[in-house]
Amino acid sequence: MREFPPGPFYPNGVGKMLKTPMDSLPNNAVPTVKCVDPLPIGAFPLPRCISNEFAYNLGPSINLNNLKQQSELRSRRRTNHMATWFGQYISFDITVSLTTIPSNPIYIPADDATFNPPSSIPGELPAKGVTSLPFNLSEVLPGTSDPLNSVRNGVSLVSPLLDLDMVYGAYNAPDGTFKTIRNGTSCYLLTTDNGKYPPKDDSGNYIRSTSTSSRSWTLFTMAINTIWIREHNRKCKDLFDIHGNSWTDQRYFEEARRWNIALFQKTASEEYLGTVLGRPLPAYEGYKPDVVPGIDTFFATVSFRYGHSELSDSYRIQDMYGDTIYDLPLERTKEENLLEAFGLDRVLSSMALHRQEEVDVFFNDASRNLNFSHIYDLYAFDISRTRDRGIALYNVFREAYGLPRKNTWEEVTSNKYISNRLQFLYPNGPDTMEAFVGAFSEDHLDGSNFGELLNASIVTQVCICIFSCFFFFN
Ligand code: HEM
Repeated sequence: MREFPPGPFYPNGVGKMLKTPMDSLPNNAVPTVKCVDPLPIGAFPLPRCISNEFAYNLGPSINLNNLKQQSELRSRRRTNHMATWFGQYISFDITVSLTTIPSNPIYIPADDATFNPPSSIPGELPAKGVTSLPFNLSEVLPGTSDPLNSVRNGVSLVSPLLDLDMVYGAYNAPDGTFKTIRNGTSCYLLTTDNGKYPPKDDSGNYIRSTSTSSRSWTLFTMAINTIWIREHNRKCKDLFDIHGNSWTDQRYFEEARRWNIALFQKTASEEYLGTVLGRPLPAYEGYKPDVVPGIDTFFATVSFRYGHSELSDSYRIQDMYGDTIYDLPLERTKEENLLEAFGLDRVLSSMALHRQEEVDVFFNDASRNLNFSHIYDLYAFDISRTRDRGIALYNVFREAYGLPRKNTWEEVTSNKYISNRLQFLYPNGPDTMEAFVGAFSEDHLDGSNFGELLNASIVTQVCICIFSCFFFFN
């Protein structure tokens, strides 16, 4: 990934890269720091304090206020969850980085009233004396002698091209081949249930292509993957009807793959991005050899994590009449095999019938207390990751994208509730605000799911992906 102006959070020599009030305490300290304590000069809030400021905090009780708030927190443009999961599916294709260097945990502040609410993981963590969540630093380039104290801007393991790595693999397996989910040497991809679902291993788990992110696949992303597998196999059959035995298996495979990737590129660049950006991308001007392929760190660490803000506490699985047959909690979405229990058509139409959460600085309750492979507060992790990767402050990035600095909170957002929270977290004004928080606090552009900074970053990055791709579908 490429580097932007480095921010103030690089490691201090002992793997402590966060300028927070915990810096002065020993590594294994039980936090005595409260979110309401005044910040020492030059320090930034604990990530969990930021997360708490913008929590939904809907709670289990049902009352009018709660219902009204739930509705207001959802997408104002009525974008549905198909866009959420399609976005995540694309993210698997272009950005997969590792976080393997153990570091400081994410501390739970002493006055953290909402940590581990009874409705999520009842009493489990406090009972075990857990006062922090584990946090690893980003991987550095192989051979780096002192990983703890070197610049970490996120090394991506997949190609920065929209080329369906989730189906075809992203890098060579040890035997030199691309490890796809191909059926032997034939044109067809492996499947189960007579072509209906992705292939499975002996334990009954879905098989994915090499290098595909193991990050948070869900039954929804698996449903989308199923479509692209089926489309490839459909194309094989179409081509065979035309060319019979005159082509080799390899030629069939390559041709079906080419068409499938082209359709994916068109869907991603025109339909998905057109919808979420609310405007078309700049006109395609053909392959540009001088555009260097790559994913910039700001995109991977801030902008394209926008999907985390769209997640809902639960997902309505609906039958063919639009009746909700099951309310699936976010945590259970990782049970990929539910795809077959509900059926592909029901899963796909349910995504399309459910309004996603607004892309904003608020995060839903479930993703702040999520038990996926381990316990996450996705918000606090995202904030910590921006610090780990040296993401510069909000106004630095605005300028880097050619946008004017914001001098007052009113210039950042017209929402008084948000600007009051920002003033509490960053009492010295917008120049001291972190990019992640600022980017998600901005008012949206007309007809778009994003404010200026997110829009600029996403358009810039996608144009790099497209213009640096020799085989882009146009
Ligand atoms: C079930 C829902 C989801 C879960 C549990 C989830 C979880 C995660 C986790 C744990 C990380 C790594 C955090 C870190 O330590 O830095 C991550 C990264 C990321 N997520 Fe998600 N995520 C979800 C949905 C989404 C969606 C809907 C999108 C986009 C539309 C998305 C885009 C990304 C991106 C771009 C990254 C960064 C990848 C990188 O740095 O290489 N995620 N996600």
